Amino acid sequence: MRDKYAHSRRSPSGFVLPAPPPVVVAPKEGVVASSFLDQDRAYFHAYSHVGIHEEMIKDRARTDAYRDAIFFHADYIRDKVVMDVGCGTGILSIFCAYAGARKVHAVDASAIAVQAREVVKANNLSDVITVHHGRVEDLQIFEEVDVIVSEWMGYMLLYESMLGSVIYARDRWLKPGGLMLPSFATLYMAPITNAEKYSECIDFWRSVYGIDMSAMLPLAKQCSFEEPCIETVPAESVLSWPIVIKQIDCNTVTVRELETVKADFSVSSIMMAPLHGFCIWFDVSFGTRVLQETDLQSDSSLDSSFSGENDNNGNSRTKKRANPSDCIVLSTAPDSTPTHWAQTILYVYDPIEVKQDQEISGSIELSQSKENPRFLNIHLKYRSGNRECVKESVMR
Ligand SMILES: C[S@@+](CC[C@H](N)C(=O)[O-])C[C@H]1O[C@@H](n2cnc3c(N)ncnc32)[C@H](O)[C@@H]1O
Repeated sequence: MRDKYAHSRRSPSGFVLPAPPPVVVAPKEGVVASSFLDQDRAYFHAYSHVGIHEEMIKDRARTDAYRDAIFFHADYIRDKVVMDVGCGTGILSIFCAYAGARKVHAVDASAIAVQAREVVKANNLSDVITVHHGRVEDLQIFEEVDVIVSEWMGYMLLYESMLGSVIYARDRWLKPGGLMLPSFATLYMAPITNAEKYSECIDFWRSVYGIDMSAMLPLAKQCSFEEPCIETVPAESVLSWPIVIKQIDCNTVTVRELETVKADFSVSSIMMAPLHGFCIWFDVSFGTRVLQETDLQSDSSLDSSFSGENDNNGNSRTKKRANPSDCIVLSTAPDSTPTHWAQTILYVYDPIEVKQDQEISGSIELSQSKENPRFLNIHLKYRSGNRECVKESVMR
């Protein structure tokens, strides 16, 4: 598992890569010496590999949404000062320069910043974009910025806890009324059925070469379902309207607010099916509008009433809400173009047979792990019919 994901964007087994070399961050232009915690060293080391950036940039839904959002706001960005928090290869900074920014402060603590500087130079943008190699928390610049752009979202939005660094930058440098890209984020959850997965990983053990291997079932359930799974689930697997776990206004959210997010839920199943788990996804929007209550029933993330650029399958890649308060939305919902985030699935150990209209209720709590604040502790309580269960897991 670790090998498979070692250079994928966010390893489900964490950012703990084998023996990372010590990161020595010398004071550079605008950055004072950084003192990394060990866990941050592994985190930033993971971002020094080309594979992780290739995966992100090739995720067209993601990169198109950012490019479109930056160009959509070109009138605002023109002649302004931008900060790109976590610039990686520098791609978003370059979009901002193309949109007419006067100055872009591109900041990244990973060694990828060295490459970003070369990319900027090769594109003759060194007079507009300054790449600062170091943590944004250690940056020293002596001007305020008009725009902050950042791609900070982790699996199930909050894994990786990078938003805290964006909040730090916002509170320190963003001018009052400045623009945050993205501006809003929403985390959703819905019960799902997934008979195929259950049969592949669990039912398989009932009879192997004609041998009764049911004794393996408890171990198979534990190994397959103990940790959250990163998978793309088909929209048809979703059993109800989504529950909103958390809405984030990037203009005002505080670090404290993100330490624990919690939601109670009560939904009814739209069909008769075994409940196999809960699927979590998010969307972010780039603009001035907060999610309205009515969006959930009408267009939210489980409907295609958007207009926008289409991919080869006719799916909208960049979703622009087709209503007057247009804004660009990057959605990782099961019915959207798949992204490298896929969806995060919390499988239950024992499925519950639910009937159409049967209530599924409970609560979900995500909190930053004390072991490593980039990890998430997940406490899920769910009940349906006469069954009531609790599932604890950690996304590390
Ligand atoms: C998800 S990547 C985005 C890269 C690039 N903006 C893009 O869209 O392709 C996030 C980047 O943020 C950087 N990063 C995370 N936290 C940071 C911090 N506190 N200070 C500086 N860079 C940070 C990581 O090293 C990583 O390169």
